[in-house]
Amino acid sequence: LYQTLSCRIWGRSALYQSSGAFGYRDQLQDVMGLVHAAPELVRGHILEAARHQFEAGDVLHWWHPPLGRGVRTRCSDDLLWLPFVTAHYVMATGDQSILSEEVPFLLGAPLEEEHERYGQYEETPEAHSLFEHCRRALDRGMTSGVHGLPLIGSHDWNDGFSRVGIGGKGESVWLGWFVYATGKHFAALCDLLGYEEMGARYRRWISDLSAALESNGWDGRWYRRAYYDDGTPLGSAENDECQIDSLAQSWAVLSGAADRQRAAAAMNAVQERLVRLDDRLILLFAPPFDRTERDPGYVKGYLPGIRENGGQYTHAALWVVRALAELGDGDGAEALFRLLNPIRHGDTPDKVARYRVEPYVVAADVYSVPPHTGRGGWTWYTGSAGWMYQVGLESILGLRRVGKTLQIAPCIPKGWRSYDLTYCDGETVYQIRVENPNGVNRGVKQVWIDGDESPSGEIPLDGDGHQHQVKVLMG
Ligand code: GLC
Repeated sequence: LYQTLSCRIWGRSALYQSSGAFGYRDQLQDVMGLVHAAPELVRGHILEAARHQFEAGDVLHWWHPPLGRGVRTRCSDDLLWLPFVTAHYVMATGDQSILSEEVPFLLGAPLEEEHERYGQYEETPEAHSLFEHCRRALDRGMTSGVHGLPLIGSHDWNDGFSRVGIGGKGESVWLGWFVYATGKHFAALCDLLGYEEMGARYRRWISDLSAALESNGWDGRWYRRAYYDDGTPLGSAENDECQIDSLAQSWAVLSGAADRQRAAAAMNAVQERLVRLDDRLILLFAPPFDRTERDPGYVKGYLPGIRENGGQYTHAALWVVRALAELGDGDGAEALFRLLNPIRHGDTPDKVARYRVEPYVVAADVYSVPPHTGRGGWTWYTGSAGWMYQVGLESILGLRRVGKTLQIAPCIPKGWRSYDLTYCDGETVYQIRVENPNGVNRGVKQVWIDGDESPSGEIPLDGDGHQHQVKVLMG
């Protein structure tokens, strides 16, 4: 949290990248981890992000405060983080009032020939609800190409895939999972507000999308990553380089959309091909681009094994851990979490000599190819910090806040016999003891609050300002 707040939210600057800008998808993801400690900050940032959205639904890829100058692009995923993170915030805090907060849109002529345009944009005179902002983002983001998958545009989460679909036809499998997840969560918000018709429309759309993902995204042993403009697959066993990309596998699980057996097989392929235990690495994809003639974009400008070109991109590596936990593999998830933990890269003189960077913050990347294998890359200013917190707290220790309740659903190693959590909700403190006498990975049998059993297993956050003892029995 310290890294997220000081460097990502407040400073937006560090040795390796002195930016000062807000990245559209970046700080939205960063604030997700702050729903417990600083929910007002999450709320404020969501509304700030909504202010940097055009009337047409697309958004600035990044902007600089205070004037808000920034760049309008054809990036395909940025805009979706607005409804995704809004839904996360509303579900976690129960604060529905944010949906009716009103903020203006940006005005500006759409992009024509150019792929991006830097500028300062006027605001619409009238303001619109955050719900409307989210709706426009989702409607604009739900595109579909020849395989029935969303168009990748000038790139998706991987900024380096900048020429995969620049002709306007290339599609992204990862984006398909992400649209699915966003549509699902947003449909739940529609229900909350009584817009059932609208929610049903999104559910129909994503159900067609999941069918397209299974028929055109599956490569045989894992999911493909994308299709180039001419329909050639990327992230496929047919490719010589970038045969398997972790994002398409982890989000198959995280979206909840993929066939369970396929998703499990895909994660096994990740363990076999992308996890390198000896080098303590979880690669973004493998093998890195080196001799491929095709041009996926500026990712190829990095040396093989560096940053997005098949290094460990810690942000994506954490999604691998989260996916394993969702599949119930507590041993695997904890082992990989430990492998990513920076302190474990600096706990012997040998490791320090190899890793070379600060072991007390998360590094955005770790190099994967000799002579630099295991060397840490950009530290501090990385969205991996926020995800590491979420994965540790939510996916492994299993603590989730749902409005005015806490839910505990751990996914831990069989060998863990117990652990303690202290949760402060304002002045009210919950001392939570989780016991695992039978050595299971997950499953909660009983929950007691101050000695009384909670039949639903939920812990109500009653805000009475007292200390409460919670006992959770797994089994
Ligand atoms: C950097 C960018 C982030 C992007 C990632 C992968 O962390 O800030 O927006 O998703 O790289 O390209």
